[in-house]
Amino acid sequence: MPKTLLVTGGAGFIGSCFVLQARQRGDRVITLDKLTYAGNPDNLASQAHDPDHIFVQGDIGNAELVRWLLLRYAPDAVLNFAAESHVDRSILDPEAFVRTNVLGTSTLLRVVTNWWADLPESRKASFRFLHVSTDEVFGALQPGDPAFTETTPYSPNSPYSASKAGSDHLVRAFHETYGLPILITNCSNNYGPRQFPEKLIPLMLLNALEGKPLPVYGSGSNIRDWLHVEDHCAAIALVLEKGRVGESYNIGGHSERTNLEVVRTICAFLQEEVPSSRQYADLISFVTDRPGHDFRYAIDCSKIERELGWKPAHSFATGLQDTVRWYLANGRWVENVRSGAYREWLDRNYSSRTTMG
Ligand code: NAD
Ligand code: TYD
Repeated sequence: MPKTLLVTGGAGFIGSCFVLQARQRGDRVITLDKLTYAGNPDNLASQAHDPDHIFVQGDIGNAELVRWLLLRYAPDAVLNFAAESHVDRSILDPEAFVRTNVLGTSTLLRVVTNWWADLPESRKASFRFLHVSTDEVFGALQPGDPAFTETTPYSPNSPYSASKAGSDHLVRAFHETYGLPILITNCSNNYGPRQFPEKLIPLMLLNALEGKPLPVYGSGSNIRDWLHVEDHCAAIALVLEKGRVGESYNIGGHSERTNLEVVRTICAFLQEEVPSSRQYADLISFVTDRPGHDFRYAIDCSKIERELGWKPAHSFATGLQDTVRWYLANGRWVENVRSGAYREWLDRNYSSRTTMG
């Protein structure tokens, strides 16, 4: 049965992938997005003339607007992707993260709960509020530690992860206190098309193509567990459909890699796709580490595999190769996101880092 979904943050990297998949399934989608530096209308360009996709520019913290959208479109579910999402930015400007991730989510929850409380009983029971979160709320692992499960205690280390942890707690509290039928997903690092090039994979890829240094923080031995964005969004759809109310589900790719391995793999793919007499890997440059840099993330996703039958479709090797090809084939998208604001960010984040080698 097609549903009506209110998707916040739907112009961002992961939200736009979810919106495109939802439209393919036939769901009607209302996208609410503030269009911050990370929100990009180009991500949803294919939906421009689609009568079953409604785009609204606005803030999840705007109670009046959210209330109006709920009354106007009566969604079957609200999916909250909207967030400030980049750890390095959270180190330089923590309050923006508290504003959107904590206060914005709190306002969204309050308005949704007030609207939901007045629904007829059957609609009340079937409604879902799904909150998209991260594995970073669990803190950092050391080599050999068991992967994060849904019951791993929260121990966030960056302003980003602390603000996401705060939002997760609020979502859970609205379930316990008011009975709002919520679901939470905690996913590992995503990669794929349309990721804003402040994050590791697109940043390294685009720097390499321009012959610029590839700034690896510290020794490059930090580990992330990578998942293709389409697999993440398929998991979210499954949790929305079949997840148990009040539960959280970990989502991960069984693809732990050191940052240096990831950067070297990107360089190797580029060497095949855009051969150059110069080795892209020679551009690797070790720079001052990120403060409070979490050493390792790893997700135990046996709950979603066991209960909902989810499995990732992409392997990291082919998923990354496809991603490299996507960026090579989408030069216009790349040029549009590399605005003056993006260049200012590169200067702000990288100019003060010392090169170690
Ligand atoms: P992104 O930064 O690419 O997109 C975030 C979107 O939210 C943007 O379109 C932005 O304009 C919008 N937004 C920001 N503040 C808003 C506000 N106040 N009101 C309305 N819209 C607002 O982020 P992403 O990588 O797509 O991440 C989406 C969600 O998934 C986030 O909640 C993030 O914490 C979570 N997550 C991300 C990853 C990852 O690897 N990128 C992994 C796990 C979970
Ligand atoms: P990032 O993509 O910012 O995601 P997160 O911090 O949420 O995991 O970074 C992924 C890893 O790559 C992280 O360990 C930090 C590292 N990194 C670099 O080494 N250099 C960079 O320029 C960036 C952006 C990240």
